[in-house]
Amino acid sequence: MVIADHPITAKAHTNIALVKYWGKLNDQLIIPQNDSLSITLDKFYTQTAVQFLPELAADDVIFDGQVLSDDASLRVRTFLNHVRELAGFDYHARVITKNFVPTSAGLASSASGFAALAGAASRAAGLALNQRDLSRLARRGSGSATRSIFGGFVAWQQGHDDATSFAYPIDERPAWDIAVVVLVLTVKQKKVSSRVGMRLAVETSPFYSAWVTASQADFKTVKTAIQNQDFEALGHTSEQNAMRMHALTLSSDPNFTYFNADSIKAMQLVKDLRLQGIVCYFTMDAGPNVKIICQGADAKQIAQHFQAVFGKDQVLITRPGAGISISD
Ligand code: DP6
Repeated sequence: MVIADHPITAKAHTNIALVKYWGKLNDQLIIPQNDSLSITLDKFYTQTAVQFLPELAADDVIFDGQVLSDDASLRVRTFLNHVRELAGFDYHARVITKNFVPTSAGLASSASGFAALAGAASRAAGLALNQRDLSRLARRGSGSATRSIFGGFVAWQQGHDDATSFAYPIDERPAWDIAVVVLVLTVKQKKVSSRVGMRLAVETSPFYSAWVTASQADFKTVKTAIQNQDFEALGHTSEQNAMRMHALTLSSDPNFTYFNADSIKAMQLVKDLRLQGIVCYFTMDAGPNVKIICQGADAKQIAQHFQAVFGKDQVLITRPGAGISISD
């Protein structure tokens, strides 16, 4: 194991879950309560360079050109501690990270961020990890980062401990033409982080165990739909799964929601389009932006429809993206 003598750069794309991860069995190891499944997206990614240097007195984290305060860099530094422990040295690191999201889209994500950091930091530390072990490492930073190691359709097997909880590709380069139209309805920071929101659901929602049962069934349905290229089954179940997750926020104590008025309007418009025969479905994560899953041939028409309502720059068409790439 040799520590790299130059910065190592990794690029990882963000992903959107079709079957969501919402709740942990183990907070420290980030072992989820259910299997989840996502599409890696081509338009949004993080690029991160890492070098471990003996002369540094502390980790130095630069995010989109700004030096991060100790508070803001805490999750990154905790993650680096884990990498140092695996590698068996205590050098600090210089981390330079940049999010590539179209014009302040507000879609920066911990998924691409921790996947890129896992890739760059592990190689910079001289750890030669395979993709599975890389996804286990990324998981320690943020659960959804586990899946951003791979491209296309990706599953995260829940597992029961650090060794068995990892992602694997279902279809890295989907042959069918699928697209995700992203509606940027707000760029504001979310009020309740996923971390806090999902803990609240596990601890207080009376529906939590029903969520686990339903999402395990959804996982099987969506996985089979991918194998059969059954778009309607994939879309319908993904939309149902998203709403089940959001029902957990509404039924938590204190209750809260990630919907805003525009999210609800957008979801209704998706249903109206379906009534007109355009097959598309919505999903939402821990924020008000709505993502529309559709077939590639319909993407432009759907995007134009939503541009007329929410504005031209608020709507982006994305396609399945690639897995992580790491420089030598
Ligand atoms: C709604 O991965 O951000 O996007 O593991 O606590 O960092 P932590 O949470 P995070 O949660 C993602 C939640 C989600 C659903 C999903 O991506 O599966």
